Amino acid sequence: MDGLSPGLYVLVRDTKKLAFLQQAMNPELTWTTAPGCPEDLLLYWLLEGDARKLAVQVSCHQDIAGDSAFSLGMLAEFEGTLRERGAWWYPRMFWESGLLGQVLYLEAEAAGVRATGIGCFFDDPVHEIVGITNVALQSLYHFTIGGPVEDQRLQTLPPYHHLPRHS
Ligand SMILES: Cc1cc2nc3c(=O)[nH]c(=O)nc-3n(C[C@H](O)[C@H](O)[C@H](O)COP(=O)(O)O)c2cc1C
Repeated sequence: MDGLSPGLYVLVRDTKKLAFLQQAMNPELTWTTAPGCPEDLLLYWLLEGDARKLAVQVSCHQDIAGDSAFSLGMLAEFEGTLRERGAWWYPRMFWESGLLGQVLYLEAEAAGVRATGIGCFFDDPVHEIVGITNVALQSLYHFTIGGPVEDQRLQTLPPYHHLPRHS
């Protein structure tokens, strides 16, 4: 991505959760504010390096996760939420992940790129990368965003094209 060094980043959606997230992950990670990042965007740079191969591996070996501009895993505050609010928050977490995914699909299109939701990923290796050793945080959904490769095999037909038209 333009202006960002290759590596592993974390975006914190809620400022109030920063300390919790830092404590739930490997304490040796350095949380450096991403250079040039707007103040209200809590994007931290955790590790430097080419993460493409790793992204492919944790995403069920799907190239789409490594060939993109970036890919991501959504980490949910898991055990605490379920204990506090009840088991029905389990599907609720997936709804929220899906909603975020829809926003990513739309924003990617608006930015002139494309996105793909990735439901096939290996959650334990994802947790290992950032040193999550318990179920306080869990990865629930992944996404990959970048320039598209059009699949020429796909056709778009009008709805009910196979039915005779009534005049
Ligand atoms: C929950 C969910 C999980 C998905 N998982 C993957 C995935 O692991 N790999 C992938 O390439 N696409 C994945 N996709 C993207 C679908 O492949 C994509 O939505 C589909 O190709 C769109 O085709 P359609 O327009 O025919 O629905 C996922 C989509 C959703 C909504």
